[in-house]
Amino acid sequence: MKLCMIGAGYVGLVSGVCFSDLGNTVYCVDKNKEKIDLLNAGHLPIYEPGLEEILKKNFKQKRLIFTSDLKFAVQKADIIFICVGTPTKKNSNSADLKYIFQVVNQLKKYINKYKIIVTKSTVPVSTGDKIENILLKQKKRKIVDIVSNPEFLREGEAIRDFIYPDRVVIGTDSIKANKILKSLYLPIVKKNNRYFNTSRRAAELIKYASNAFLATKISYINEMANLCEKVGVDIKDISLGMGTDQRIGERFLRAGPAYGGSCFPKDTRALIDTANLFKTNLSIVKTVIKSNEHRKLLLTNKVKKILKNKLKNKVITFLGVTFKPNTDDMREASSLFMIPKLNKLNARIKYIDPSGKKKEFNNLKNVKFCKDISSACYKSDLIIIHTEWNEFKLLNFKNLVKKKDFVIFDMRNIYSPLKMKNLKIKYFAVGRQSN
Ligand code: NAD
Ligand code: UGA
Repeated sequence: MKLCMIGAGYVGLVSGVCFSDLGNTVYCVDKNKEKIDLLNAGHLPIYEPGLEEILKKNFKQKRLIFTSDLKFAVQKADIIFICVGTPTKKNSNSADLKYIFQVVNQLKKYINKYKIIVTKSTVPVSTGDKIENILLKQKKRKIVDIVSNPEFLREGEAIRDFIYPDRVVIGTDSIKANKILKSLYLPIVKKNNRYFNTSRRAAELIKYASNAFLATKISYINEMANLCEKVGVDIKDISLGMGTDQRIGERFLRAGPAYGGSCFPKDTRALIDTANLFKTNLSIVKTVIKSNEHRKLLLTNKVKKILKNKLKNKVITFLGVTFKPNTDDMREASSLFMIPKLNKLNARIKYIDPSGKKKEFNNLKNVKFCKDISSACYKSDLIIIHTEWNEFKLLNFKNLVKKKDFVIFDMRNIYSPLKMKNLKIKYFAVGRQSN
């Protein structure tokens, strides 16, 4: 089939590349010309393990085309996927749909024959209805089907999530569109029950309900971790003891710093906004948002406590600053809250992240990016394990820090408190006993 992905970001690029690997011809369009030039030169604009190899293979075989020419791509394609961003609107909770409607207004001019328009971007319930109104307004015959196909991939695991999805949700009542999309997804759904056809509004809401539920699970375990610290219990035992109950499930029960990323924070906010619009009180989701915001402050205060409130000129090392490992994405990472706060208290921050230096910290005095782990840790007073990259999982801290009284604050519970105790290293974690 011939596909057009509009927006070559984390979702559009990954799904476009994977669709091309399944034998489709994929036109990836982005209005950011720099991104397109980079892709045409064989470079990736994002950090996503495994993506480069598949991209290069399909680019070479001319199944992947990168362009800024929307008209050309739209007219070639049978199915058009809208994959542009839907960030939070400034000073509000609602999803900013300006990029979606910019695309839709362009599509209005370029559609020349029957096309399926699929929203892969996460959009509030009833957005599909609005898109349909715009696109069908001036057309006498129904030449488009507007479908919702939310994407559930995770950054850092995006290829695997896309190729082996738990489910593919298709929101449409068009038999024709459903049949075509089913044949597109057939090679990856494998089991019939993994392909779920529902109404367009239901598909839109499934996406928000899923993200908000996962955010709730994380906040729940994070709050349990707070209690564990008080009652002398290890949160990892609680996660395991709870998670092995299949009704609860083991995944997404890892305590840590506040959840971040481009989606959980913005999607929980947007869901509240939708609920308000439809006069429904989603009190649980509201509490999750508050709990997650509060967690950033809670852990920052714990850092202060560990350093006995004497932060002036203390050297603090952040191992990892992204919101999760295997991505370069900094959107809503808790380090964006912690580093400026600690820096304001005159601590000297060094950080290392395998995905590279972050422009977000460029303007902060005394915040320094280090290229290797040894220079990041050398003579540090406090090492904060902020993101659980593999690179940080087997470190010999004594050899790295080369200083007597340093402390570790392991926000991801990677290391064993007992081993740290035996090594006589002062160690703090989340929801576990410190020594
Ligand atoms: P992104 O910011 O990485 O990429 C969006 C791209 O769209 C950008 O490259 C931008 O230049 C391009 N764009 C914007 N307007 C355009 C236009 N008019 N024409 C062509 N290109 C245009 O965003 P993302 O993280 O890929 O997220 C996209 C959507 O998918 C969001 O709604 C998000 O909630 C959802 N989503 C994201 C993830 C994820 O892991 N990031 C997972 C599932 C769903
Ligand atoms: C999340 C969802 O998992 C995807 O299904 C969804 O498609 C995506 O949002 C989206 O809509 O964009 P992502 O944000 O890439 O994916 O990453 P996650 O693995 O979900 O992690 C999100 C945050 O939760 C990270 O900060 C991570 O550290 C944190 N987390 C996750 C925990 O603190 N504990 C856990 O057990 C799991």
